[in-house]
Amino acid sequence: MKKHAQALMEMKGRTPIAMLTAYTCPVARAVERASIPVILVGDTVGMVEMGFESTRDVTIDHMTYHVGAVRRGAPETHIIGDLPYLTDKDPDTALWNARRLIAAGADSVKLEGAKTEVIRHLVDNGIAVVGHTGLTPQTAKSFTKVGRTEQEARQVLEDAIAIQEAGAFMIVLEHIPYDLGATLTDTLGIPTIGIGAGPDCDGQVLVINDALGLGDYWPPFSKQYAHVSRTILQVAEDFAGEVASREFPNNIIAFPGSGKA
Ligand code: KIV
Repeated sequence: MKKHAQALMEMKGRTPIAMLTAYTCPVARAVERASIPVILVGDTVGMVEMGFESTRDVTIDHMTYHVGAVRRGAPETHIIGDLPYLTDKDPDTALWNARRLIAAGADSVKLEGAKTEVIRHLVDNGIAVVGHTGLTPQTAKSFTKVGRTEQEARQVLEDAIAIQEAGAFMIVLEHIPYDLGATLTDTLGIPTIGIGAGPDCDGQVLVINDALGLGDYWPPFSKQYAHVSRTILQVAEDFAGEVASREFPNNIIAFPGSGKA
């Protein structure tokens, strides 16, 4: 059964929350079958699927396309849709764009930074909001860890508190020292979801391409549970070889349930 924002909030301190990103229908279907309670359709799609250099190139049209695909694959899973760069630049613009993500199938939206007026406006208009602090890639100048100095750590803490007070029901903490992740998790009443923020967060999120080992680069705080890029290369080489040798299609194996006669 789909978990709404309230049910996810109630998991804090009880059950660790697993979250994966997904951008396509078949991946979302598998994630739902694994009973992962939350899927993030993140603007990472721009970098890991679309070949952009930055998440700043992602548009709201890209996001609605991917949210729709993920919803068709995972009808029973809570889906968070990311508001891309500048689509949350002021409260009314953010509300317009958040409504597009919700219409496409999202249950809630995520936005980067302590944009408290925007968060409050969305929440007042019935939209559940997930915050995001620490490293915020839409505006970051580098991808290094945030919060290593006392001053930076204090800023992250203040931002997280402000995001919670503005009405966010959950917060993503990206690439911060583990002890700061623990402090934030203790301090906040809403669940913290870490990505490179240590083991003490209320939950963990991984970019699905990083988890699959799909691509050429994976951040040091991610784990590869498979090496799908290698599998794709192998499949492509095998196929090319079999076309050249005319073995294919005479050697098709009917997988059970594939629908092949
Ligand atoms: O866009 C995204 O996938 C994210 C995760 C890195 C948390 O924001």
